[in-house]
Amino acid sequence: MWRASVITIFPDMFPGPLGASLAGKARAGGIWDLAAVDLRDFATDRHRSVDDTPAGGGPGMVLRADVLARAIDAVAPDTDGRPRLLTSPRGKPLTQARVAALAAGPGVVVVCGRFEGVDERVIAARNLEEVSIGDYVLSGGELAAMVLIDACVRLLPGVMGKEASGAEESFSDGLLEYPHYTRPQIFEGRDIPSILVSGDHGRVAAWRRAEAERLTRERRPDLWAVHTSGMHGAQAPGTPPKKATDG
Ligand SMILES: C[S@@+](CC[C@H](N)C(=O)[O-])C[C@H]1O[C@@H](n2cnc3c(N)ncnc32)[C@H](O)[C@@H]1O
Repeated sequence: MWRASVITIFPDMFPGPLGASLAGKARAGGIWDLAAVDLRDFATDRHRSVDDTPAGGGPGMVLRADVLARAIDAVAPDTDGRPRLLTSPRGKPLTQARVAALAAGPGVVVVCGRFEGVDERVIAARNLEEVSIGDYVLSGGELAAMVLIDACVRLLPGVMGKEASGAEESFSDGLLEYPHYTRPQIFEGRDIPSILVSGDHGRVAAWRRAEAERLTRERRPDLWAVHTSGMHGAQAPGTPPKKATDG
């Protein structure tokens, strides 16, 4: 079973959205498990303090290295085998390739930062991999942890409903996904592209590929540059074949 452990000062936020839809069903079905661990349980004072003022002065508070280290050691000792991630806006941006690699492993331990962040020494001492979900600043790491876990869980074998899901999705081969259409045939005067109702699977595939390339070129020149350079890597192991029912 794929296991996610989250270290947070707000354990009640979990499972949150991870308890619904694909992830919730998969958890109920025993495909993965989630443990939200209260960082305050590892404090030693009667106030259950987990933070203190920043050395050198300045605003805000910093999560203490000693309290966090105790929590990490209890949740994921060195023999655990799961990567230890720290949500952080200065971390490496999360990508679908990293998600697929994490999904192919035994699970994740995710530390949720709060306040100004985390004492640098525990990041080094416990070998935390800093992961960002985008170039903006959240109030805390809980939403970032949910994003990361959701992205991993939907790739676990048996989570996505029908055949063929991950393989043609955005980022799976370095391209954004092609546009989708469904009934009605005409919506406010706009028709479904005729190729899609032609029944010619070869032409449909070619149209989708061309649209995926057009959208990527127009919207994500960064991805397009990598794609056209031939540098986009092979799909990471663990990415299952295609297509989801509700997620
Ligand atoms: C208010 S933020 C701290 C921001 C930090 N002082 C800075 O300027 O980089 C509190 C916590 O939210 C989480 N967080 C905020 N933005 C994030 C992002 N883009 N990706 C991942 N985690 C984020 C991190 O765990 C962070 O420690």
